[in-house]
Amino acid sequence: MFRGCEPRIPFSFGLTTGAVMFPDIARDDVFRLETRRLWLRWPRLSDAPAIERYCAKWEVARYTARIPHPYPKGSAERFVFAAREGNTLGRDLAMMITPLGAPSRILGAISLERRGTDRLTLGYALAPEAWGRGYGTEAGRAIVDAAFSLSAVVEVDASVRVENPASGRVLEKIGFVRVGRGLRGAPARGAMVECDAYVLPRNDWTARREAASLETAR
Ligand SMILES: CC(C)(COP(=O)(O)OP(=O)(O)OC[C@H]1O[C@@H](n2cnc3c(N)ncnc32)[C@H](O)[C@@H]1OP(=O)(O)O)[C@@H](O)C(=O)NCCC(=O)NCCS
Repeated sequence: MFRGCEPRIPFSFGLTTGAVMFPDIARDDVFRLETRRLWLRWPRLSDAPAIERYCAKWEVARYTARIPHPYPKGSAERFVFAAREGNTLGRDLAMMITPLGAPSRILGAISLERRGTDRLTLGYALAPEAWGRGYGTEAGRAIVDAAFSLSAVVEVDASVRVENPASGRVLEKIGFVRVGRGLRGAPARGAMVECDAYVLPRNDWTARREAASLETAR
């Protein structure tokens, strides 16, 4: 399942606990994850025009809780500064998704945000021209692998609008399990919206990884 999407990171760097989720290696802006087709790297200010281009599209914003529509000028820059702050503090891990070897071509963004002391919430949005090629799943696996490998997180969660089956499918392919349905606040939509809640506990992630290693060894 995880074959070809392994983040190439030195796993020997110490795990972290407590308020700081991610260790020093992830808190430096040279940190990068590599998959078969993608690089995931820290956001930078020069990404703002590309971020604005896709975030301004209704088909991108409509199922998200926090991308406003219309997309106000300066929002992309604010996203970059906030992402870099969260990454620097080791609280979150927000990464731009680019093709492998083309770090200036933005396909989208993906993030893990700390929730409480030992949980992370996954979020992502890709530019429409990048949809339907498996990039969301590939980037999702990479950042989730990094989370469990680099931090002491016990569970990663995500919530998906019930009208957004593509996103639910991405989570299922990564190994998330749907655990319920209910109303969630979506500040950018100005309302509560009906969402499916998904979780990926560390034990499930470990079991999937072991099964994938056995499959590869065969
Ligand atoms: C959701 C999103 C990240 C998916 O990215 P992606 O790169 O297209 O996803 P993938 O190609 O890895 O996988 C999509 C899966 O959904 C499936 N899918 C797509 N549309 C679907 C639909 N209407 N119903 C059911 N499944 C659907 C695809 O067939 C694929 O599954 P498969 O590999 O089993 O065939 C992307 O559409 C996006 O950024 N949307 C806008 C922002 C957003 O919704 N973010 C998520 C908020 S929770």
